[in-house]
Amino acid sequence: MSVLAGKELRIVGFLCNWCSYGGADTAGVARATQPTDLRIVRVPCSGRIDPLFILRALLHGADGVLVSGCHPGDCHYAEGNYYARRRLEILKQFLPVLGIDPRRFEYTWISASEGQRWQLAVTKFTQQIHELGAAPAFENAEKLIQIADMALTALRPLGTGQHAALADLKKAIVEKLPELDCVIGWQQSYDAAHSAPLFMRKPEDVEKLVWGPLNVNNLATYLPQYKGKKVGIVVKGCDSRSVTQLLQEGLINRDDVVVFSMPCEGTLDMARINQALGAYQHIDKVAYDEAGVSITADGKEHRFCMVEYAQGKCYSCATPGAVLADVRLGTPTPVTGTPATPPELALLDSMSLSERFAFWHTQMERCIRCYACRNACPMCVCRDYCVAESRDPHWLTQEDTATEKFFFQTIHALHLAGRCTGCGECQRACPVGIPILALRQQIARAVAQTFEGYRPGMNAKATPPLMGFTVEENNIKEKDWNK
Ligand code: FES
Repeated sequence: MSVLAGKELRIVGFLCNWCSYGGADTAGVARATQPTDLRIVRVPCSGRIDPLFILRALLHGADGVLVSGCHPGDCHYAEGNYYARRRLEILKQFLPVLGIDPRRFEYTWISASEGQRWQLAVTKFTQQIHELGAAPAFENAEKLIQIADMALTALRPLGTGQHAALADLKKAIVEKLPELDCVIGWQQSYDAAHSAPLFMRKPEDVEKLVWGPLNVNNLATYLPQYKGKKVGIVVKGCDSRSVTQLLQEGLINRDDVVVFSMPCEGTLDMARINQALGAYQHIDKVAYDEAGVSITADGKEHRFCMVEYAQGKCYSCATPGAVLADVRLGTPTPVTGTPATPPELALLDSMSLSERFAFWHTQMERCIRCYACRNACPMCVCRDYCVAESRDPHWLTQEDTATEKFFFQTIHALHLAGRCTGCGECQRACPVGIPILALRQQIARAVAQTFEGYRPGMNAKATPPLMGFTVEENNIKEKDWNK
């Protein structure tokens, strides 16, 4: 029976073997009264706790999760809890965008001798969960369909890159090509209204290179598979952040990559363009001007202005020029102001927790589990060992439920914490148009707020925040159980 009034709830506790489990034991030996809602999982160290343990518990019926380890500085393995502290803090800031009340998860530090502190922490946390009540089940969430408002002001004029030095770029590629196995760029795809990656190996291939707002693919995705070969890549500003991030993580070698850059004026949201074009037999003409593109399909002209049809990420893009480049052509338009909240994330910010839960449930019911989001992601590099397909450990079942699909998306987003450069390839590749970039954007916001404005992919020499720690964390506050 719970010592708290009312129904016993389901609380999962992950306790480090060396301190907090001992603290709970000390409280028990001292016969300190404790609520009985908690089910303890003993782990070797708080550093062993993957945030997916907590998310799985919360999405599969736990009403609350409590993590407790040794005090910072006292970890049996010296540093495990310092790393854990950063991961757990980011997870706590991530939960609200999922529609999960962040008060359902707490982490704390309790030593083996602190039986009283354990009693206080577990009692206060259980009270907190009882006040919140039983957690809503994801599968029972209501239907909620809402679409982000894309009417935003960009940080710089968006355009179609009509004055880009394409001829100079082609010349530079032809000059470098003899030293390289391949140069990756863009070419016209199955029709003039779409582009596709181009792998240039011979000078005649370079003629197929195109530049403009239809060049939506982030070509950095292909770089890891060329590791060990000499390869060139044409980048937009956002793509160059992915190249920098791959260098930072040692996934490619700087000496093997030649980066060609041109200033980006924005890319088009192909999902909305395809929707506007509808079913067509033939593209008759694609005409560009400074402000947009006119596409004539089956004799009917469609006008797409950049300020209305750019990808959401372009409105808040502060890197129109490449972060790093070996051959740099043209000058990017200066950025004015600070980036606004991206439209998809702004939509979620405007919702209540229960609305976000309903929103994601409605979206995840549409997911067909094709993993295009993962495959298009330049930072998703452990594909053969992906948690989505692993049978050992078997974290995800193949069930076609919204919960399992949402769990995959949350894991994917967490694996990108401090790594996602916001290129939006996950969302662009999604065949059913689920706005999953918002999950990565919330993680990026939490990382920036917690780690002094850190932005992934800006400096190849920087240590990603979740791969390091500081003994004193300026923006991470320890939970005060006396409040
Ligand atoms: Fe307790 Fe690492 S051993 S947190």
